[in-house]
Amino acid sequence: MGLGTDMYRQQILDHYKSPRNYGELEDPDFSHTGENPSCGDTIQMDVRLDDDGEEIEYVTFTGDGCAISQASASMLSERLVGMTLEELEALETDDIVEMLGVTISPMRIPCAVLGNQVAKDGAKIHKGELDPASETITED
Ligand code: FES
Repeated sequence: MGLGTDMYRQQILDHYKSPRNYGELEDPDFSHTGENPSCGDTIQMDVRLDDDGEEIEYVTFTGDGCAISQASASMLSERLVGMTLEELEALETDDIVEMLGVTISPMRIPCAVLGNQVAKDGAKIHKGELDPASETITED
C-alpha cells in the first residue's frame, strides 16, 4: 500500500503547509466556528451560496490546529464547491476519511471531522434547524 498511502500523506502535508481558501469571507451566507475540546483546536468555515441559496459557491476557512484538522478543512473547502446544502449535511465521517485517504486512528477522528462538523452545523443554523448559539464540538 506504500505508494498510494504516501501520496495521500504528501497531499495532507501539502494542504497543511499551503492551505487552500484560507481566510475569512467578507460577506458569507453563513460562518461558523467549532472546536475539538480534547486539544482546544478550532476551525471557522465561511460559506457563500448561489443566488438560490441551495448550492455552495465558495468556501473559506481559518483555524489553528494539527495537520489532520487543518488539511481536512482545506481539502473540504475545495470539495464542497458545487455541492448542495443537503449533500453537505449528508457527508459522514467515512466520507471525510476517504477524502483524506489515510488510516485515521480513532483518537484522530475528531481532528479529521472538525471542519465538516463546523460546515454542517453552520448549514443547519443557516436553515434555522439549529440554535445559532449552539457550540460545535467534535466527539470522540
Ligand atoms: Fe487538535 Fe487535531 S490535535 S484538532
